[in-house]
Amino acid sequence: MNITIIGTQWGDEGKGKVVDLLAESADVIVRFQGGHNAGHTLVINGVVYKLSLLPSGIVRPGKISVIGNGVVIDPEHLIKEMGQLAEKGIKINPDNLYIADNCCLILPLHSELDRALEEAKGVNKIGTTGRGIGPAYEDKVARRAIRVSDLKNPEYLKERLENLLVYHNALRRGLGQPEIKLNDVLKFLTDLAPKITPFIKPVWYELDKLQTAGKKILFEGAQGTLLDVDHGTYPFVTSSNTIAAQAQAGCGLGYTKSYKLGITKAYTTRVGSGPFPTELENEIGQHIQKKGHEFGTVTSRIRRCGWFDAVLVRQACKLNGIDGIALMKLDVLEELDSLKICVGYELDGKKFDYFPACPQAQTRIKPIYEEIAGWKSTTAGVRKFDDLPVNAQKYVKRLEELVGVKIALISTSPERDDSIILDNKL
Ligand code: GDP
Ligand code: IMO
Ligand code: MG
Repeated sequence: MNITIIGTQWGDEGKGKVVDLLAESADVIVRFQGGHNAGHTLVINGVVYKLSLLPSGIVRPGKISVIGNGVVIDPEHLIKEMGQLAEKGIKINPDNLYIADNCCLILPLHSELDRALEEAKGVNKIGTTGRGIGPAYEDKVARRAIRVSDLKNPEYLKERLENLLVYHNALRRGLGQPEIKLNDVLKFLTDLAPKITPFIKPVWYELDKLQTAGKKILFEGAQGTLLDVDHGTYPFVTSSNTIAAQAQAGCGLGYTKSYKLGITKAYTTRVGSGPFPTELENEIGQHIQKKGHEFGTVTSRIRRCGWFDAVLVRQACKLNGIDGIALMKLDVLEELDSLKICVGYELDGKKFDYFPACPQAQTRIKPIYEEIAGWKSTTAGVRKFDDLPVNAQKYVKRLEELVGVKIALISTSPERDDSIILDNKL
């Protein structure tokens, strides 16, 4: 069965580890949204791999990795990431990496604009990764983006760039930035084109062939449901749809069925600004941050930490149609005396069993907690459910009950094999 990996919180749930683990029994791994704002960490026998744009399956020999049309590609970054992996002995060639011909590009002008707009927002900034994701998606929807396939046709590329620069140079003049010269950006792209064009394919067509041949596909989501541009904590979100329904739109494989696995941290974290009802701005939050090494993979920012929010995860599971949860980083909680779980919200005397859409309400809303005893014994590296301390088992079972979705996998360390698989569909 195909599997779709989706973050059910604000990203960094541990998707990379799970994709890498499950890629063993998959043939094809597909990224379908986002870009190099993602930071997916894999730890294989002590060796750490950090992937932002390449699908996490790339580290396994014999697998096909696919970048679907829903992804925005910074070509310079792509070349850099391929080089970093090559240094670690990973072989990347047109037989194991396919890039959709209809992917849109992120250009240096996008990351410059991303950073300039954030600066202009001051205290109201979103806290983006500064990688040009938002401006690149804006250009895509506005129908002025440069697509990967344009790199194969210099004349058409020039025409498209002329059109793009009319908009961007007007914007840059307004922001007091120097204009961009057509020939500079044209040269930049034509110089790097030969390194990208060999990987270009009609991905929807290739995926259809692979699926028809019985190949197993793993869809690798980036970010998380609460960062989804429609369903997340707007405007403090990323600029793509991150939910499972995007998997098909973002690669063009129309006919497909998959098991949707919701990757979920045993607590909550968030990088960047925005509402976070269960945030712990105290020593417990600091303890989780330190013990969980909660630093952003892409930006090295400290991740904000808080209690598990069962309301938000339940909502995320419904939005995605999650079939099973992979509960990550359970080991991080092992030293706590007791733990709290958010089971509902209260706002102005009214109870809520969902997260209201209005940012002001999201900021003011108060969590209703249930308290549960800690386990205070080592869980790192445990590989059997029965070997978990009884209170840790109780915590897991309570989360399952509150979220209403089966816990299909439990992860107890960053290592690939420190995982407890509870659902034989995985
Ligand atoms: P992603 O963006 O969802 O792929 O997650 P990140 O890689 O950004 O962040 C997850 C971090 O937690 C990485 O450093 C992982 O190596 C690490 N990690 C994953 N699973 C576990 C686990 O079960 N326990 C611990 N302690 N760390 C984990
Ligand atoms: P992975 O795939 C966590 C956050 C940024 C910011 C907001 C918008 O590793 O889980 P953007 O640069 O996308 O315009 O930033 O989204 N963000 C992430 N947070 N994990 C990620 O990816 C993220 N990608 C973007 O911090 O708040
Ligand atoms: Mg990450």
